[in-house]
Amino acid sequence: MNILAIETSCDETSAAVLENENVLSNIISSQISHGKFGAVVPELASREHLNNITKIASESLETSGKHIKDIDIIAATSEPGLIGSLLIGMNFAKSLAFTLNKPFIPVNHIQAHLYSNFLNGQKHEFPFIGLIVSGGHTLLILVENFFKHKIIGYTVDDAAGEAFDKTAKLLGLGYPGGQMIDKFAKDGNKDFHKFPPAIVRDSEFNFSYSGIKTSVLYYLRNIDFENKKNDKLISDIAASFQEAAIKSLFKNTLKAAKKYGIKIISVSGGVSANSGLKEKFNELKNSGYSIYFPKPEYSSDNAAMIGITAFFKYKYSQITKDTNYFENDSLTHLAKPRLDYEAF
Ligand code: KG4
Ligand code: ZN
Repeated sequence: MNILAIETSCDETSAAVLENENVLSNIISSQISHGKFGAVVPELASREHLNNITKIASESLETSGKHIKDIDIIAATSEPGLIGSLLIGMNFAKSLAFTLNKPFIPVNHIQAHLYSNFLNGQKHEFPFIGLIVSGGHTLLILVENFFKHKIIGYTVDDAAGEAFDKTAKLLGLGYPGGQMIDKFAKDGNKDFHKFPPAIVRDSEFNFSYSGIKTSVLYYLRNIDFENKKNDKLISDIAASFQEAAIKSLFKNTLKAAKKYGIKIISVSGGVSANSGLKEKFNELKNSGYSIYFPKPEYSSDNAAMIGITAFFKYKYSQITKDTNYFENDSLTHLAKPRLDYEAF
């Protein structure tokens, strides 16, 4: 089965072609125009998607070696995301599917991060504990089988990636800054300063990342960072922040794994590219855990993960050739904003 998938939920315009679980092409165009604003500007994002979508989809088909007539299903991210951006990808994909008389499959972006760890034949047993950490989401999920998910933990305020980005901004490292924090942290001392943990005291598995960001802000003011900053100081603060941010993700995930008696952990989303996070989780392999991370090209937003989720939806859930998503999946559900933990 050949799948053409489109992802436009935030600031990446991406198109991929898959043959079942295997990626034949995965083209990602990251929008750089938001850098000077320090955050994604929704209106700019929609306009860039509109400029890029046809070009990126054509490039993806060309790279894959497939012709549009070889495509069996067409998929796009349907939620959650920026509404203007989602509409560009959804309408592009729906129109194409309608014209070609092929099934259209809407895909939940968060589920797609979860299934990014199945790409290219990476085999995964069920049940497993899924940790999704990105710029918009921080979720702990008990995955019993395909599309049998239970959210057991979520952030009550900022997402982990958001805290990385905001801290990077405070340190003058640009946007998005997760990667830069990771880079500087490699040369820093993680015990230089103790930032507060990102956990919620009276809940079992929830996270809270707004305090840690504020604590960085006050700490920088206290030490007169602007006048004292140098690469060594930035590295030490980046390493200390990263240590605190990772510790909470690790702690809650391990606690969940122990509670449910599960020894398979799957980490995904943009922040899963973080080398400190990988190192910490991979240590669990010595205690008999199986740990999965996506390849870097599938950790940040990409259409390949949308494609594999559409394939699994087609294969394992109620979708058949006759499912009419043009009727069943009207765009009206997008009018209602959803929180992280409602998205499944
Ligand atoms: O999954 P993603 O591309 O978009 C969302 O769905 O939000 O995640 C983007 C996030 C950004 O916050 C970015 O700073 C963070 O992932 N990120 C990292 C690293 N690479 C990307 N955070 C920490 N370390 C990294 N190496
Ligand atoms: Zn994402």
